[in-house]
Amino acid sequence: SEVNQFCEAKIGYEESGCGISASSSKILVKGGTVVNAHHQEVADVFIEDGTIVAVRPNIEVGDDVTVLDATGKYVMPGGIDPHTHLAFGFMGTETMDDFFSGQAAALAGGTTMHIDFVIPVDGSLIVGFEAYEKKAKRSVMDYGFHMAVTKWDDTVAKEMEIMVNEKGINSFKFFMAYKGSLMINDELLLEGFKKCKSLGAVAMVHAENGDAVLEGQKRMIELGITGPEGHALSRPAVLEGEATARAIRLAAFVNTPLYVVHVMSIDAMEEIAKARKSGQRVIGEPVVSGLVLDDSGLWDPDFVTAAKFVMSPPIRAAGHNKALQAALSAGFLQLVGTDHCVFNSTQKSMGIDDFRKIPNGVNGIEERMHLVWDTMVESGKISVSDYVRITSTECARIFNIYPRKGAILVGSDADIIILNPNSSFEISASTQHSRTDTNIYEGRQGKGKVEVTIAGGRIVWINDELKITAGSGKYVRLPPYGYLFEGMDKVDAMYISSLKAPVKRSRSAV
Ligand code: URP
Ligand code: ZN
Ligand code: ZN
Ligand code: ZN
Repeated sequence: SEVNQFCEAKIGYEESGCGISASSSKILVKGGTVVNAHHQEVADVFIEDGTIVAVRPNIEVGDDVTVLDATGKYVMPGGIDPHTHLAFGFMGTETMDDFFSGQAAALAGGTTMHIDFVIPVDGSLIVGFEAYEKKAKRSVMDYGFHMAVTKWDDTVAKEMEIMVNEKGINSFKFFMAYKGSLMINDELLLEGFKKCKSLGAVAMVHAENGDAVLEGQKRMIELGITGPEGHALSRPAVLEGEATARAIRLAAFVNTPLYVVHVMSIDAMEEIAKARKSGQRVIGEPVVSGLVLDDSGLWDPDFVTAAKFVMSPPIRAAGHNKALQAALSAGFLQLVGTDHCVFNSTQKSMGIDDFRKIPNGVNGIEERMHLVWDTMVESGKISVSDYVRITSTECARIFNIYPRKGAILVGSDADIIILNPNSSFEISASTQHSRTDTNIYEGRQGKGKVEVTIAGGRIVWINDELKITAGSGKYVRLPPYGYLFEGMDKVDAMYISSLKAPVKRSRSAV
């Protein structure tokens, strides 16, 4: 039988054994390697009432403190997933995971905060925000919101101000695809970018050319390709590259920071790399599916198996994934999300005769920390510090909540994981905490295991058991003018002065 360093008793949903309780206010994480984005050292971490109060070697504590031995293990900031869709109504149905089940899955995988996308209701940001406030009531971990902008008028512009100044939102997502539902055009994109700039909010784009996607879909249907592979064939990487390039150039024209979500292709990645090399403030977010999988699953003869891989932009042919990994190592891409947006086999089967009706989205919130560790750290592509940066710290910095989140420092929130590099993980729909019935990583095994998750100062995951309380998660307000905006005003001033005075022309004699 396995020796358990943390606790002899199993901790269930209902009650805890042996003194480790969900409400335990004092915890000492002892003897682990504490890793931050720029430094690591062997130290103890002392937590009191949800906050980290000491980080140093050899902390002595009394009997009222729960002690976790982390010797030989990594003690790191809990993951922050910058891209999720919980309780999301999309393509005529709603995701299987809500804020309770999706967050439970997150915690079991070492993620302690996520930022979800509020979708407006009939274009109204306020109505959308209120709906998401309700959805998030049963939260078991901390969360923040991005806001999508799906139409444009003076009311929307006003509501963006309210979101930033009163509601704790500092980012707005513009969909350049999903024509007829969420998609906006270039005129709106420009208005949106200008408004984001004036508010100190980050403009985000789903970068695919939605007009061309529609054309690609028509082409596939005409050719009689109606299965899930038609999804990938109808929206090739060139359409992602085109939209990424367009968004980048429009953001440069407005001079505002840009965040490209779910970068799935070499085409899009290279546009981001090029812009960054020119000095433009562009952030590229690959997602786990695009980093570790290729498109082969979409050609599976079993419909349900193939349909589970349908997401947009599509998971690309082998080669794109390796290139995205390399770009992450090199710093051309900055942080990893999931785009967790799960539909079960029944929901996916809405598109059994027509790939255009398969609800788009894949899982990942529970798997991200493990798969990024295995793919990037175990393979030697990045350091452990870089792992912390791309899974947690960089997200906290971009969305302006560092070092409250994304760090193990005195005063930071006690969102912490203990990862055992010598243990291993295995992924299966039969053991996952997500409510969906499939997993795109089914059967995958790897090195490294999140053995303990501490969220908000509570031990919520230990001995493969969750100990969570609905409603314990807090809404984290994201303030505007994060680091991406620093110095932008100087660039604007230089631009204006570079225009010089208009040329004075005299009328030549005719
Ligand atoms: O297929 C996807 N990505 N579904 C979620 C919505 C989005 O575009 O992020
Ligand atoms: Zn015990
Ligand atoms: Zn998207
Ligand atoms: Zn998404």
